[in-house]
Amino acid sequence: MSETERTPVDAETFRRGMRHVPTVVTIVTFDADQAPCGVTIGSFVSLSLEPPLICFNIKKDSSIHDEIVATDRYLIHVLRDDQAEVSDRFADPDRSTRDQLDGSQTEPGPDGIPTLRDYLVRFDCSRTQIHDGGDHSIILACVEGIDEGGPARPIVYHQRAYHAVGTQVADRNLPG
Ligand SMILES: Cc1cc2nc3c(=O)[nH]c(=O)nc-3n(C[C@H](O)[C@H](O)[C@H](O)COP(=O)(O)O)c2cc1C
Repeated sequence: MSETERTPVDAETFRRGMRHVPTVVTIVTFDADQAPCGVTIGSFVSLSLEPPLICFNIKKDSSIHDEIVATDRYLIHVLRDDQAEVSDRFADPDRSTRDQLDGSQTEPGPDGIPTLRDYLVRFDCSRTQIHDGGDHSIILACVEGIDEGGPARPIVYHQRAYHAVGTQVADRNLPG
C-alpha cells in the first residue's frame, strides 16, 4: 500500500497498539497557585545527559494541565512494585487533586512541594521548556537533585495492569 492510500490510525487503534508498550509509573507533585497537586504520569523519560534533562507529557484537557505547565518545580517519584494503589489514587479523576495528597502518604519536601514517603527514586526538577504535542503538552525539566529511596523493584504499567519488573533474560553484552 502506498503512503497516500494509508488511512489515518484512529485513537482506539493507537491506544491498542500502545498497550503493548510497558511504561514506568511516576507520581509528579508540584506546588500550584491554589494548593499542592499530584498526578500519575507514565510518559516520564530521560532526554539529555548534559545537561540532565527529562520530559513528560500532560493531557491538555486534564484538570491540572494549566497549573502544571504554569509551575516551575516538580518532584518526580518513580514508584515501587508495592505502590499500585498510589498510582490509581493519583490517576483517579473522581478525587480532588488536593485529596490525593493524603497526609499518610506524603510529607513536606523540598521547596514546600509534597513528597511521597516511599518511592524507588525521586528526581527534583525545574521546568525549562513547554512544547506542544498534539492533545498533550510536553514538559522539559532539568534534574537538580536525585534521591534514591532504597532497594526495591520498579513497577511497570503494561496491558492496562501493573507488573513488577521480572526475570532478567540476558546480560548486556556491549561495552559502555
Ligand atoms: C499508569 C498511568 C499513567 C498515566 N500517564 C499519564 C501521562 O503521562 N500524562 C497524562 O496526562 N495523564 C496520564 N495518566 C492519566 C492521569 O493520571 C489522569 O488522567 C489524571 O490524574 C486524572 O485527572 P483528570 O481527569 O483531571 O485528567 C496516567 C494514568 C495512569 C494510571
